[in-house]
Amino acid sequence: MKDRRERLVAACFGVTAVAALGLAVVYWNGGQPQLEGVLLGIAFAAMAIGVVLLAERFLPGTGQVEARHPLDSPELVDEAVESQLAVPGLTRRRLLTRSLGAALVALGVAAAFPIRSLGPRPGKSLVQTSWRPRSRVVTTDGRVVRADEVPLGGLVTVYPEGAVGVADSQVVLMRVEPTLLRPLAGREDWAPGGLIAYSKVCTHAGCPVGLYEAQTHQLLCPCHQSAFDVLDGARPVFGPAAAELPQLPLAITADGTLEATGDFSAPVGPAFWHHT
Ligand code: FES
Repeated sequence: MKDRRERLVAACFGVTAVAALGLAVVYWNGGQPQLEGVLLGIAFAAMAIGVVLLAERFLPGTGQVEARHPLDSPELVDEAVESQLAVPGLTRRRLLTRSLGAALVALGVAAAFPIRSLGPRPGKSLVQTSWRPRSRVVTTDGRVVRADEVPLGGLVTVYPEGAVGVADSQVVLMRVEPTLLRPLAGREDWAPGGLIAYSKVCTHAGCPVGLYEAQTHQLLCPCHQSAFDVLDGARPVFGPAAAELPQLPLAITADGTLEATGDFSAPVGPAFWHHT
């Protein structure tokens, strides 16, 4: 009976090991969420059953009385025990510890694999965009933007030259009445002629902030209705966004085109990327 139970425990741990290795193989070959879930479930279920059976073996849970026997073993018995211990092969204890060890190692290997899913380190990509000092401002079709072509109350989506379509570098460019602007300290010359530019990536969850209400001078995010005050450093005035849109410093060149004088005032995108 005991032998049967121990074999059952070892079999459970074996099932755990096989399921965990199967999980690792499936993951390595591109993954299949349903199959991975099933294999993980089997691995943990078999491990749980094995541990319970093992615990029951050592903790019977009922009172046991064993008649005391003479402490002295006859010499013949001693010799028999010694010779048994000397027999090479798999003892019960060794079988159980090996199967449990195999199960734990296989589970460890399967658990280590998802590290690969973390991908490459982001490096500076979360705090730096394609905008550089003297980057020329271009439209979505790559045409260089002239300062005089943006009408009062108008909005244009622009990019740095050579990086059209790069998500973290998209910018909304507007023209407002210069006297209405309340520039933040150090940004007094960032909006020449009332041309002001902010990141188009919402600081709440990253949606494009593409709606401009010229009368109230508010940029609106259609995803969760955050509103940003264009005149006041794109400070959020409504909705879930907690951080202002990063501003892009602009200058008008001698030939009347627009260029950036540096990168954004802050990292682009959801605030949790850089406030945590
Ligand atoms: S993503 Fe803009 S308000 Fe939520």
